[in-house]
Amino acid sequence: MDSAPRRFTNSPVINVIAAAIDKASRTLIRNFGEVENLQVSQKGPGDFVTAADKKSEKILYEELSEVYPDDGFLMEESDEIFGRNNVRWIIDPLDGTHNFMHGIPHFAISIAREVNGEVDVGVVYDPIKDEFFWAEKGRGAFQRNRRLRVSSRSDMANSLFASEMPGFSRTHTPKAKAVFDKLIAQTGFRSFGSAALNLAYVAAGRLEGYIEYGLKPWDVAAGLLIVKEAGGYVGGVQLQDRPETGESVVATNEALSSQIINLARF
Ligand code: IPD
Ligand code: CA
Repeated sequence: MDSAPRRFTNSPVINVIAAAIDKASRTLIRNFGEVENLQVSQKGPGDFVTAADKKSEKILYEELSEVYPDDGFLMEESDEIFGRNNVRWIIDPLDGTHNFMHGIPHFAISIAREVNGEVDVGVVYDPIKDEFFWAEKGRGAFQRNRRLRVSSRSDMANSLFASEMPGFSRTHTPKAKAVFDKLIAQTGFRSFGSAALNLAYVAAGRLEGYIEYGLKPWDVAAGLLIVKEAGGYVGGVQLQDRPETGESVVATNEALSSQIINLARF
């Protein structure tokens, strides 16, 4: 275990996560530097990026399971590892893979801890900008030691929303396109390519909101807690959608929540 994590909190679990992230993100950054060279090659950087993604996951797993050997792990690149207790880690070792693959410096590591089915710790780390977003249930959300609050804007016209085209399921594409059209017509719109960072940016008040269909639990587990702890609203587009499954996710402030849900439902 790396002995020099970024010390901006006394929380033991956040410091364990920070140490694991320090190690994994050093590898990611080194590999990101290689991507630009491979980008222009005939074969492209696809296999290389998959290897970088898996390497990041392996480091995170080794570091966390060394400290918490009885816990379970749900990680994007592996089959689920079942624990011997009621704790499960939900990890995306590289969120924003397409950005990474194309040499675009906007991607993240996302780590959440779930206890009895409820996330109580979440971290989203952007290795390029060195931004460490984190939250513990009931204790607030932070970027390093700065407290996060969602935006207080309540008018769509002056707001900025993010949405993305579905990453893995084309069945959601028509709905996503309809949401894009409505957002473009009614508010400021961005598509940054990292679900985890979109959620962190809502928590930080940089975006008024974010909507996406067809995500996976590891894309959103940490970010949803960070938004909630920053005073935000999280839900699904349809009443029955549970955002933590990733089926659909709406993250915004309370003031805009009904407007944005109505916009996304049709
Ligand atoms: C993807 C990114 C992307 C989102 C996709 C995700 P990945 O995760 O978060 O922004 O639109 O739905 O699958 O594949 O880069 O880990
Ligand atoms: Ca992801």
